[in-house]
This record gives sequence, C-alpha cells and structure tokens, in this order.
Amino acid sequence: MEKGAAKKIVMSGIRPTGFLHLGNYFGALANYVKMQNEYDCFFMVADLHALTTLPDTKELKTNVARVLAENIASGLDPDKAALYCQSHVPETSDLYLLLNMMAYKGELEKTVTFKEKVKLQPNNVNAGLLTYPVLMAADILLHRAELVPVGKDQEQHLEMTRTFGNRFNHRYGHVFPEAQAFNFGEELLKVPSLDGAGKMSKSENQFATIYLSDDDELIRKKVMKAKTESGGSEAGAPMAESVANLINLMKLVGTPSDAIASYEKAYFDGSIRYGDMKKQLAEDMVKFISPIREKAEAIRNDEKYLKEIMEKGAAKARKSAQATMLQVKDAMGLNY
Ligand code: TRP
Repeated sequence: MEKGAAKKIVMSGIRPTGFLHLGNYFGALANYVKMQNEYDCFFMVADLHALTTLPDTKELKTNVARVLAENIASGLDPDKAALYCQSHVPETSDLYLLLNMMAYKGELEKTVTFKEKVKLQPNNVNAGLLTYPVLMAADILLHRAELVPVGKDQEQHLEMTRTFGNRFNHRYGHVFPEAQAFNFGEELLKVPSLDGAGKMSKSENQFATIYLSDDDELIRKKVMKAKTESGGSEAGAPMAESVANLINLMKLVGTPSDAIASYEKAYFDGSIRYGDMKKQLAEDMVKFISPIREKAEAIRNDEKYLKEIMEKGAAKARKSAQATMLQVKDAMGLNY
C-alpha cells in the first residue's frame, strides 16, 4: 500500500440506459452516497459498454447527461468521488486489450449475460458483447479497486474480474488485488412495487415504478392506482403484502411515524380508508421526489457544469489509471 493511502478503493459503473427509479435510488445510489464518505470512489458512466447493445449513438449524449445529473441530484458529490465517463479514460482500452489475452473464448461464451444477449439480439452478436466482462474487468482493475458495489446480476462478471486479474498476477507478477462485491445490507435493496408484489424495476410494470423524473401529477396518479386489498384484515393475520408495501414506501419517503402507526392501527381494526392512505403516500412521495427531479433538471440543462464535472472526474480517474498502467507494463516487460 502507498504511504498514507489508508482508504480502500471503490469502483462501480452505471449503464447510461433508461431512467433511474426509486429502486435504483435506495439500492445502488444510496450505497454510493454512503461510500463516497468512507472510501476512495470511482463512479463511471459505462458509455462504451452501452455500445455492445445500442449501436445507435443518437441518444448517448442525452443519456449520459441524464444519468450524471440524476446521480448528482441524488447525493453523489463530484468533489468527493471521481465521477467520469468510460470513454474519457483511454487507459481503459489499453488494459482491456491486454486483459483480452487473459480471457478464454470458452469461459466468455459461458457467461450468463452473454447467453441472454445472444437471444435478445441474434443479429448483433459482436465481439464486444462477448468480451463485455473483460471491459468491465478493465474498469475495475484499472484502479486496483477492492470493493465493487453491484447487484446480484453482476456477480458473475466480478468473479471473472478476479479470474483475469489472478491470471495476470500469476503470469507477470502481482499487480491486481481481488475485487469483492459490496453492499450495505439487504434492507437497502428492496423497494416494493406499487402493484402489490415484487420490487420496483425497469422491466416490470411501468406504472408500478416511480422514476426520479416523474412529475408530481404522474407520481400522484401512480400512487393512487397502487394495489390494496378490498377488505380489512382477518383477526390475527399478518398485514396483506400490498398494504405492507405501501407502509414500507411511506417509511422510505419519510412519512411521519405517528401517521404510519395510525394507518397500521386502522388496517388491523378494519377502519382503514385506502384512499386517504394513498393520498398521504402520494404527497410524501411528491415531497421526496420533486426536489431531486428539479435539481437533476437544472444540472442536465447546465452543459458547462456537466462538462466541468466530467473533465474533473476523468482527470482523477486517468491519474489512477496511468499509475496502474505503469505497473502493468513494468510487470509485463512492456517498458522499452
Ligand atoms: N456491467 C454493469 C451493469 O450492467 C455496469 C458496469 C460497467 C460496471 N463497468 C463496471 C459495474 C465496473 C461495476 C464495475 O450494471
């Protein structure tokens, strides 16, 4: 370890596709915001990864701006974490190329996400898609990161990152630590959907998911349509899942605890009025989301600020990347 470098290095990537929703906010983002205070963080917008599935670049710039804006509005601080674009750090491509020699075709073909994408886009099974995990390994190993906050769906990629890193270490000498998946605990990860079951997600029912970009009216409409039970409770039975979900959402968006307690009581004594309960949730949701949405909009429209942020993030990331690449090339004897 370098002198004085006591903080562990954290790295994660965000695909610039889709809009962020409340599930992302309390899952991934809340994790990032906590980590930026305790670790040396590199958070990157994976614009190159996006090209493996979205060759059309017309909307890339808008999507990158939106993802950055929504992340900053949600609490990521560009003065604390390095917040940057993957394509602004060309060292990523250098390491990606070298790591491709550590990755075998057979293991890449066995990757679950690759097999899924092959089914989804049979006419565009490009080499970038096959080597997606190698590019992700390059993102992580470039900063010699030890902690990677990601969801379950990325764990196989992380396992492959360790494999490629270890192979390199074996072949050329120790450069890379083993990166581990990281999260602050289960309770952060589950944001219930408004349709009574499951969690909020991009791919499920759009109307059951609240996005950070939803306007006040849309938020109210979605919440008022949320599923509830038709009757009250049976004596001694636990609370119906759909109602418990609304209670959980209330807790997340800051409904006062005495109000929550009174809805719980009303549910169990049979006097609950779901209309009132949903109205309360809708207003608290609006209060929670609207400042984030407005801040994100302001940032998105401020091209100069966004450019500054990206440049600053890239400079920080490149400094760390260049230090790693020197070690990599030294270890490999590519130093003539
Ligand atoms: N593959 C990740 C996803 O789909 C995004 C990503 C790219 C990433 N590079 C990364 C995540 C590096 C963690 C670390 O969500």
